[in-house]
Amino acid sequence: MDSDSKRLPLAKTCTDAELAQKRLKSHQRMTELEHHLLICMGKCCLKRGADKIYERLKHEQQTRNWGDRLRINSTGECMGRCGDHCPIAIYPEGTWYMKNTVETALFLAEHLVSEAEADDRLQISYTFKEGQFRRSPSYPL
Ligand code: FES
Repeated sequence: MDSDSKRLPLAKTCTDAELAQKRLKSHQRMTELEHHLLICMGKCCLKRGADKIYERLKHEQQTRNWGDRLRINSTGECMGRCGDHCPIAIYPEGTWYMKNTVETALFLAEHLVSEAEADDRLQISYTFKEGQFRRSPSYPL
């Protein structure tokens, strides 16, 4: 086997027409989007089960009626808050949640899409106020 046959195939490059179609479809989805949820998938968080959180949320998004209101993405690197145990950041709110598990992340997603009352399962580490992120007084350094 030569070295060329070991390489993964390169991703197909989109044509201009395909890109235009993707932009239009993306624009339509963006008009529905209310919350963008980012799950840290850095090494520390992966050791604490962030991949399980991500997989479960993506599964639930397919089976529940969340539609395009909620976008769920994983980060490709550490979000810089390893001590907060699997942080999840929500935009545009600018709220970061800490100590996440599959259960708390599911509750968080439900809270976002149904506007259900938050409770102490959701532990906020930072919120964006007056131009900067501020540590929650409930969780001092
Ligand atoms: S690996 Fe997730 S915050 Fe560092």
